[in-house]
Amino acid sequence: MKKIAVFVSGGGSNFMAIHHQIKQGKIPGEIVLVISNNPNCGAIQFAEENSIPVLIINETRYPNPHTLNELLTDTCLKAEINLICLAGYMKMLPPAFVKQYENKILNIHPGLLPEFGGKGFFGMRVHEAVINSGKRESGATVHFVDEIYDHGPIILQKKVEVLETDTAESLAARILKLEHELFPEVVKAFCENKIIMENNTPKILAYNEN
Ligand code: GAR
Repeated sequence: MKKIAVFVSGGGSNFMAIHHQIKQGKIPGEIVLVISNNPNCGAIQFAEENSIPVLIINETRYPNPHTLNELLTDTCLKAEINLICLAGYMKMLPPAFVKQYENKILNIHPGLLPEFGGKGFFGMRVHEAVINSGKRESGATVHFVDEIYDHGPIILQKKVEVLETDTAESLAARILKLEHELFPEVVKAFCENKIIMENNTPKILAYNEN
């Protein structure tokens, strides 16, 4: 059973999708910690309603980045965290923390990385940029996190067609639905030890491979 920490900033629908599949027994893991920069978001409310311990970290509470990094690292080590999921977490993690959990931090991005990624590309801004670009395809990506924003090795992507009639909002809604399939699928593969690294590229083993 893997111990999972989920980082959130907003509504938390991806967090809820993972939580749901765990409760259904589909993922051999347990969400033991939810961390957020935003104490008032829907995701934190959901965590509290489900008795999952919560940690709030932000520059207001912890202005010194070293203190923040130490708190994060100590908390995750004490909780014996095996996997970290960034589920709509809108802050950069401290580089030392990312190093400590190399290839153990998953991020979901609402676009087909490496396109429409990097600083400034988050949430609705990704969908607006896709619509403005005239691209006929978008989707969602789950990747391992490294020290560079939206840059780490890609594990799995799912695509959707961008329709003539799409607005950023309609595209966002369609992609969010896809995210709720994609993210739990990757979390499940991680928890089953089915993600291996081959020449720095993650590979999901088929169910008959070991
Ligand atoms: C999701 O679309 C996720 O891909 C995106 O924020 C949304 C969070 O929704 N993440 C990023 O843009 C990260 N750069 P949720 O809170 O309902 O899961």
